[in-house]
Amino acid sequence: MKNIFPEADNIPVEWQLTAPLFQHTWLVNGELREWKGDMTPAVSPLFVKRNGKLQQEIVGYYPKLSGEESLEALESAEKAYDLGRGLWPTMRVEDRIRHVELFLHEMRRHRNEVVKYLMWEIGKSKAESEMEFDRTVEYIIDTIDALKKLDRESSRIDLQQGIYAQIRRGPLGVVLCMAPYNYPLNETFATLIPALIMGNTVIMKPARYGVLVLYPLLEAFKNSFPVGVMNIVYGDGDDTAGVLMRSGRIDVLAFIGSSRVANILKKQHPKASRLRSVLGLDAKNPAIILSHADVDLSVKECITGTLAFNGQRCTALKMIFVHRSLVDSFLDKYLTELKKLKYGMPWEEGVTLTPLPEKDKPEYLKALIADAESKGAKVVNENGGETLHTFVYPAVLYPVNEQMRIFHEEQFGPIVPVIPFDNVEEAIQYMVDSSFGQQVSIFGSDPADISRMIDPLVNQVCRVNINSKCQRGPDAYPFNGRKDSAEGTLSVSDALRVFSIRTMVAARESDENKRIINEILDNRMSNFLTTDYIL
Ligand code: G3H
Repeated sequence: MKNIFPEADNIPVEWQLTAPLFQHTWLVNGELREWKGDMTPAVSPLFVKRNGKLQQEIVGYYPKLSGEESLEALESAEKAYDLGRGLWPTMRVEDRIRHVELFLHEMRRHRNEVVKYLMWEIGKSKAESEMEFDRTVEYIIDTIDALKKLDRESSRIDLQQGIYAQIRRGPLGVVLCMAPYNYPLNETFATLIPALIMGNTVIMKPARYGVLVLYPLLEAFKNSFPVGVMNIVYGDGDDTAGVLMRSGRIDVLAFIGSSRVANILKKQHPKASRLRSVLGLDAKNPAIILSHADVDLSVKECITGTLAFNGQRCTALKMIFVHRSLVDSFLDKYLTELKKLKYGMPWEEGVTLTPLPEKDKPEYLKALIADAESKGAKVVNENGGETLHTFVYPAVLYPVNEQMRIFHEEQFGPIVPVIPFDNVEEAIQYMVDSSFGQQVSIFGSDPADISRMIDPLVNQVCRVNINSKCQRGPDAYPFNGRKDSAEGTLSVSDALRVFSIRTMVAARESDENKRIINEILDNRMSNFLTTDYIL
């Protein structure tokens, strides 16, 4: 492990950082405005050896805006929305789709640059970084298709109890989009694209890490959307999101991150009834391995479930309950598979385990391990928890109990807590008492036993996975959570709904009203009241 960080010359040329990137601009009012003030360094989780010395790389620098610039971005977004009268919110759906397609076309040209910054800024493996990019492209294409379908369904005029009506979905206003560092591209776009395509204007604040990931797309944002529709602010949370929320002029908060920060942001908004929120928050999804489970299959799913991207996924399996009769064979096989996982630099072929981007994470994980050890657990795998700067080798903790912090806290990193159980009620009770409510994975082969668990568990979480790890995708399926885990539902089609509201034009059935409506339709006089189809 001591050789995990490479010599500068040994990094493949394609992925080398030649010099730090200075991003001196920020997007506001349709321009990439030059910034001459303070800059924030984008510190990489990766260290590199130069002249025999190990040093942490700086990927680049980006603007550190103040509250003043954040308010300028707000004014820009408000002006473009113009209380629903702007060009963008009143544009025909077909034309808004064209703008998004233009962006998509540009975005596709920057795959390699985005992948490179994902590797350097958040340490995500090349394979997972490429997957994040491709999945995002796919998501945009699917969103366009879903909107076309929605628009086709709304293209008719209904008649109920003597009232004609055309019902469509309209935008909500100015949206503040904030995404987490573990998916700085995908989860940014998972809210950004539906918010934009439904006619809202947006201020985006990039994630804590993975800011320069968006740098290659700035020109595309500027060139693809009308002035003020898309704005991006960078800086401290309070100078950006805090200022924006306190202004009371944000209509929708789209935030993926911790419930602690979401609660602070929501409370800062002075008009609680005006603010709508779309939130993806904390989770601590358990795996429950029943006595009749196929151990090989459970281990296979639990390995990726717990350790893909070093456990830094909201959907990661963060607690493993194993029936006491299977604990030995489960642990034995899990540890064998864990040993096979390759650690190293993100660009290395077949690598899974990589350094962590959060500055304080190694210390935090160490404290969780020490706490569990002081209360009776052991690190049962070789080198478990061993740390070198930003790299932490996974630690499998066994046996974990409710006295330990790891039982309650979302580790969001490479710690795998294993708890033996005799009665499955212990695992169910854990979920009932938990403040999280996203997903669960049940492993077993007895349909009767599994079905007895499904019925109570679907009311604890929003997705019960059978013999499969927890995950967000496919993106066509609803992604949400109960309790402190989420607010609102995201999926390709649900996201279009959460960023819009049903709004309608109605008229009493009369000859005069028929004449007016027909004339509007025949002459295509309205972008809303129209029976045109998008094919
Ligand atoms: O971090 C939370 C993500 O939404 C999880 O997505 O299951 O595709 O990794 P994933």
